[in-house]
Amino acid sequence: MRVGTREFGGYMAQAVGARRAARRLPDVAAPGVADARQLPDEEFAGAWSAIVMPAGTKSRLLRTAVASAHLRAAVPFDALPLHGVLLLAGPPGVGKTTVARGLADRVSRTVVDTSPWLFIEVDPHGLASSSLGRSQRAVDQLFGTLLDEHASAGPMIVLLDEVETLFTDRTALSMEANPIDVHRAVDAALVGLDRLARRHPNVLIIATTNFKEAIDPALASRADWIFEVPLPDRTARRTILEHTAAAVAAAFPDAAGLLEPDVLDRAADLATGLDGRQLRKAVAAACAVRREAQGDPGRVSGEDLLTALGELGGRS
Ligand SMILES: Nc1ncnc2c1ncn2[C@@H]1O[C@H](COP(=O)(O)OP(=O)(O)OP(=O)(O)O)[C@@H](O)[C@H]1O
Ligand SMILES: [Mg+2]
Repeated sequence: MRVGTREFGGYMAQAVGARRAARRLPDVAAPGVADARQLPDEEFAGAWSAIVMPAGTKSRLLRTAVASAHLRAAVPFDALPLHGVLLLAGPPGVGKTTVARGLADRVSRTVVDTSPWLFIEVDPHGLASSSLGRSQRAVDQLFGTLLDEHASAGPMIVLLDEVETLFTDRTALSMEANPIDVHRAVDAALVGLDRLARRHPNVLIIATTNFKEAIDPALASRADWIFEVPLPDRTARRTILEHTAAAVAAAFPDAAGLLEPDVLDRAADLATGLDGRQLRKAVAAACAVRREAQGDPGRVSGEDLLTALGELGGRS
């Protein structure tokens, strides 16, 4: 695999990509496949810009993934045992899944291969089964056949969302609830991951979890990089609230009171401890605070936002 790098900041049009053959997509009805698309992807580009993280975090993430692609393409696995696995861990609602999709898009624009990048999102719940042996077979089928086949056709990014479901810590399993089946499925997933990593240096796996302790240590040790995604700090909270309020005001111009700098400052203070999802939803909740506004977003006020945040229980 030959890889070349585009400028990080430069969104050069994919003129080369346009001439290259489109990638065959897997059947999204296949067990364990939640989404499949060719990259780059405009929706994912939007996801990347929507997520606000501490300064430098997103570019560090991108550099990490890009370095991995270059290293794995050129250095033998036995000398540098990189599995191409990047783990994003953190509390719910801090943007892990969203930034993972955005990262996939950015990697595809930065690392240019002879074939376009393919993106596959795995739905681990779609592999689970209560009947003995079935989830193991589904995992084998996914890693050993489906992912393997598509990786043979060109570079690929796999999103393993909520990875603790697939790589459950085997040592923490109780003897109830079919543990043998879970053991076998985890074993199969690890074998599949190892095989994928060795055979296909052009595969990058982005895994997310909000329950790092529940992940099998064998997966954690295969992760090349673990990023802890934090709750948004004050600056990030203010920016997320401002972006959300601006989107509402774009549709309902009379909601512009939400964008008063003083309101946003106080709101960011009031929202300490809230995650990104809660912050965005608080703007919607504000539209329903006052009875006389009758749920009309055009009649929402800055005070409504502060009330809604207070009700959400941010720690001021
Ligand atoms: N840091 C952030 N900046 C901007 N928006 C954010 C941020 N974190 C979360 N959001 C918003 O919250 C929503 C939920 O984010 P996402 O699903 O990516 O979180 P998650 O960390 O994967 O959560 P979970 O662990 O529950 O799956 C997104 O639509 C996004 O708009
Ligand atoms: Mg998520």
